[in-house]
Amino acid sequence: MPELASREHLRNIVPVVRAAFAEAKVCFEDLDAIAVTEGPGLAGALLVGISYAKALAFAVDKPLIAVNHLEGHIHAVLLEQAQLTGDSALQLPALALVVSGGHTHLYFAKQHVDHWTYRNVGRTVDDAAGEAFDKVAKLLGLGYPGGPVIDRLAPHGDPHAVKFPPAQIKHRDRRGRTDGRTVKPDNDLPRFDFSYSGIKTAMLRYVESHQMHAAVEARRKALVRIPKPKLEDYLAHSDKLTLDLVASFQRAMIEDLVGKTLAAAEAYDIATLFVTGGVAANQELRQTFESEGAKQGLPVFFPSRPLSTDNAAMIAAAAYPKFLANDFAPMDFSAEASMTLR
Ligand code: KG4
Ligand code: ZN
Repeated sequence: MPELASREHLRNIVPVVRAAFAEAKVCFEDLDAIAVTEGPGLAGALLVGISYAKALAFAVDKPLIAVNHLEGHIHAVLLEQAQLTGDSALQLPALALVVSGGHTHLYFAKQHVDHWTYRNVGRTVDDAAGEAFDKVAKLLGLGYPGGPVIDRLAPHGDPHAVKFPPAQIKHRDRRGRTDGRTVKPDNDLPRFDFSYSGIKTAMLRYVESHQMHAAVEARRKALVRIPKPKLEDYLAHSDKLTLDLVASFQRAMIEDLVGKTLAAAEAYDIATLFVTGGVAANQELRQTFESEGAKQGLPVFFPSRPLSTDNAAMIAAAAYPKFLANDFAPMDFSAEASMTLR
């Protein structure tokens, strides 16, 4: 609900910035610059951030830096690795999987003298992976957001109980469609696209053919009555069939994400793999990437779990190379809802 989202941003932005200053024990004078998300995202919510950042930059006389949200997710990895091991420890170039509620994108990321470049080598042709987690959780009466709940329930089910057919990708882009959801292949470089609408439909069919609707509705009603349901609450309201379905769904999603990403890592000459975005908080996804990456001799880096989901520190991290390069935004820049990363 875009209107509600912008209103919530408006209501929260001042208290959140104040709380961040208080926690970090800094004040406006300590800042070097003010960074803000330019896109992609909901225009109304982006505009709240941009207007606030512009007003602040003007009032305290600091330069303004415009950041791509997806670049922020990638730099969340760099921010923490730099803190842990020093600036130059990471081998580059990197392949970055940005996997969230809005994106499932693979980027070939390169560092140049004073800036970074990104080439998209894969993306979802329909739903994002996080969106699939959220829709499946809703279908099973597990609430929103779905990813964290499915993550915690999956170890209690059998991941081999239900088989899902592998995703079939129709390369609409190769037939020249430009509907905004697909991109034209970049000089015929190999692409590693994702598709999650098939597994979502398969889940829906499974629920229907196993007459699960009444149980789902009972679970949904029971869970909304509990203010902050704990794992025991979810387990108490989930039968074996549901737990097996959740575990099998998560396993299928992870096999697809890891399989395609590692295939891309082999096709492109990269030194390191980054996995970031809300879904990168998933425990089984992290373990599988680590173990499968190790088999290919590929180091895999994630942000810590709090910095995997959306946060502002990652926007500051992506702004830092731009700050060093004096790459500042003019006061009249605006939100770019469907901004791409390059
Ligand atoms: O990056 P993010 O916070 O916001 C977007 O930019 O979309 O990602 C949110 C998404 C949601 O779809 C949520 O269900 C998913 O990330 N997510 C997870 C987990 N934590 C959050 N998915 C799987 N496992 C998790 N632990
Ligand atoms: Zn995000």
